[in-house]
Amino acid sequence: MSLQTPLYNLNDFPDVYEPSEDTHLFIDALEKDMKHIINSKPTLACEIGCGSGVLIAALAKILKSTCCYFCTDINPKACIATTRTAKMNKVPLECTRMDLTTNLKCKFDIILFNPPYVLTEELEIFGCGLNRAFAGGLRGRSVTDRLLNNLNDILSDNGVCYLLLLKENNIGEIGEKMGEKGFKIKLVIQRKIPGEHLFVYKFSKA
Ligand SMILES: C[S@@+](CC[C@H](N)C(=O)[O-])C[C@H]1O[C@@H](n2cnc3c(N)ncnc32)[C@H](O)[C@@H]1O
Repeated sequence: MSLQTPLYNLNDFPDVYEPSEDTHLFIDALEKDMKHIINSKPTLACEIGCGSGVLIAALAKILKSTCCYFCTDINPKACIATTRTAKMNKVPLECTRMDLTTNLKCKFDIILFNPPYVLTEELEIFGCGLNRAFAGGLRGRSVTDRLLNNLNDILSDNGVCYLLLLKENNIGEIGEKMGEKGFKIKLVIQRKIPGEHLFVYKFSKA
């Protein structure tokens, strides 16, 4: 089964990240890993930084009503846009404005995160508008590292976290650090686009 990009409409949301090459690579990763996703029978899913909401809606196309869907975004407009996307695609989900998953006290079976990965000054990671979609701070890892440092606490024992990374994020170092913490890391898909080499990795507890 091929996984189409879910319907969305960002006409009233100039401050919300428009699905782009990275988003489409992520959807392709979900499509490629679909069998594994279905066979692992996740019941609790969370997309962090949902933006338009197309990734969580794509996941819901795979898992349908076998799973509960949550998402978060630091940008309140993204939460409204995601709720609209959910309605357009008939996906029941809860979307809340928050930093990562700070206020959610549960462990997820599947986590999706296409983070702000562009290398920028740390000072650019402020506010809650469109800059938060891109600005990743030094090495583009400021937000990603915060998630990875906390991953053990928010991922269930058999859970999987799908994460988009840029070559310049120093993936080797991430792999080493997460390996030391007992995580298994596997490349799902990669793609070179003009100016960027993007990867989607999955992290699971070994
Ligand atoms: C690259 S965009 C991805 C949007 C969407 N998931 C997609 O793939 O098209 C990154 C998203 O993460 C959100 N974000 C950035 N920092 C965040 C944080 N600390 N907590 C939650 N969301 C965050 C941004 O507002 C933005 O919507």
